[in-house]
Parts: sequence; C-alpha cells; structure tokens
Amino acid sequence: MSTDIKSIRKFFTDILLMLGLLGCGISTTVFDASEEKLKGGAQFADVFSWNSIHCILSTFFISMILVHFWQHRVYLKLLVTKKLFIKNKIISLTALVFSITAISCLFYLTGFSSATVQFHTSVAPVLLALIGLHLISKIKRFLGLIQTRKAL
Ligand code: HEM
Ligand code: HEM
Repeated sequence: MSTDIKSIRKFFTDILLMLGLLGCGISTTVFDASEEKLKGGAQFADVFSWNSIHCILSTFFISMILVHFWQHRVYLKLLVTKKLFIKNKIISLTALVFSITAISCLFYLTGFSSATVQFHTSVAPVLLALIGLHLISKIKRFLGLIQTRKAL
C-alpha cells in the first residue's frame, strides 16, 4: 500500500483551503453593521481595519492559495504556455478573478475608502462563487489524493 507524500501535502493544503474558504466567507458578517455606521457619519478607517477577523482569515486564505498554486505549478505553467484556457475555463477564470481580488486587497494597503471597498466588494463575491464551482469540479480528484493504492 502506498500514498505518496506529495498527495498527502496536497490533501492537507486542500483541507486548509476549504477551512480558509469557510472562514473568509462567514467572517464577512463582521461588517454587517458597517453600512449603518457609515450612514451615521463614521469614517471608513473607523469601520474597517486589517485587524478584523475577515482580513486576518482572508490573508491566511490567500497564502494557502499561493501554496496551492506552487503545488500545481506544472499544470498552471502548461495552461499558460500552451494557452489551454478554453479547455480549462473554470480554473482560468478562477485564476484571473483571484488576481483581481488580490489586487483589490493590495489597494487596502493605501487605506479603506469608498473606492477601495467598492472595488473589493464587486470582485470578491465572484471569486467565492468560482472557487465553489472549482471545488465541486475537483472533488473526485481530492478524494483520490488519499485513496491507498496497491504497490506494484
Ligand atoms: C481572497 C481573499 C478575499 C475574499 C474572497 C474576500 C471576500 C469578501 C466578500 C465576499 C465580501 C462581502 C462583499 C459584499 O458585502 O457583497 C468582502 C467584504 C470585505 N472584505 Fe474581503 N475578501 C478577501 C480578502 C480581504 C482582505 C485581505 C481584506 C482586508 C484587508 C478584506 C476586507 C474586506 C472588507 C473591509 C469588506 C467589507 C465591505 C463592506 O461590507 O462594505 N477582504 N470580502
Ligand atoms: C484561487 C485560485 C485557484 C486556482 C487557479 C486553482 C487551480 C487548481 C489546479 C490547476 C488544480 C489541479 C487540477 C488537476 O490536476 O486536475 C487544482 C486542484 C484542486 N483545487 Fe484548486 N485552485 C484554486 C483555488 C482553490 C481553492 C480555494 C480550493 C479549495 C477551497 C481548491 C481546491 C482544489 C481541489 C480540492 C483540487 C483537487 C485536489 C488537488 O489536486 O489538490 N482550489 N486547483
């Protein structure tokens, strides 16, 4: 019986990605009262901060996605060099929207404002939906990572 170490690493990264996805999505509720506060005259910088649970969990989630990219670098390199975007529509779109979302987070380094929050909230929900599709389409491959194989 053998299960190679790379598959085990991918499996645990995928588990952390799934937890990150849940954490990132659920933690957006911490901003539920933000609209009211802003309407009440609060400044964006008073309502949103990098210390919020959503920003912390999402930064972890982004880091795990970068680890996931490294683990699938051969696939992603072929996707780009052989221009296999149409054959891999969900992965290509997810990678594109992830890049835009990451840029929207980098804009937060300049501060929280109407423009930076609007940019982030228009692109981030699309990323979560695409990741959901990607996850469903790869669930069999995920389960295959821990299936033991009879040694030859
Ligand atoms: C891949 C990473 C991320 C994803 C998928 C993501 C996802 C989301 C989603 C779905 C929303 C709710 C949008 C809505 O209300 O329609 C949101 C809101 C927000 N996110 Fe993120 N986020 C990510 C990273 C971050 C990071 C790193 C920060 C902090 C620096 C951040 C700060 C915010 C803020 C301030 C809002 C509140 C906007 C509001 O309710 O008005 N996000 N995010
Ligand atoms: C955000 C951008 C992402 C991109 C571009 C991406 C890309 C990829 C690629 C290229 C593969 C290999 C496909 C194959 O060998 O058939 C893969 C597999 C997989 N991805 Fe992603 N992925 C992303 C995010 C995520 C996230 C956030 C999750 C989980 C919440 C996830 C879960 C999986 C699973 C379960 C697999 C199959 C098992 C494995 O090989 O790890 N992916 N992904």
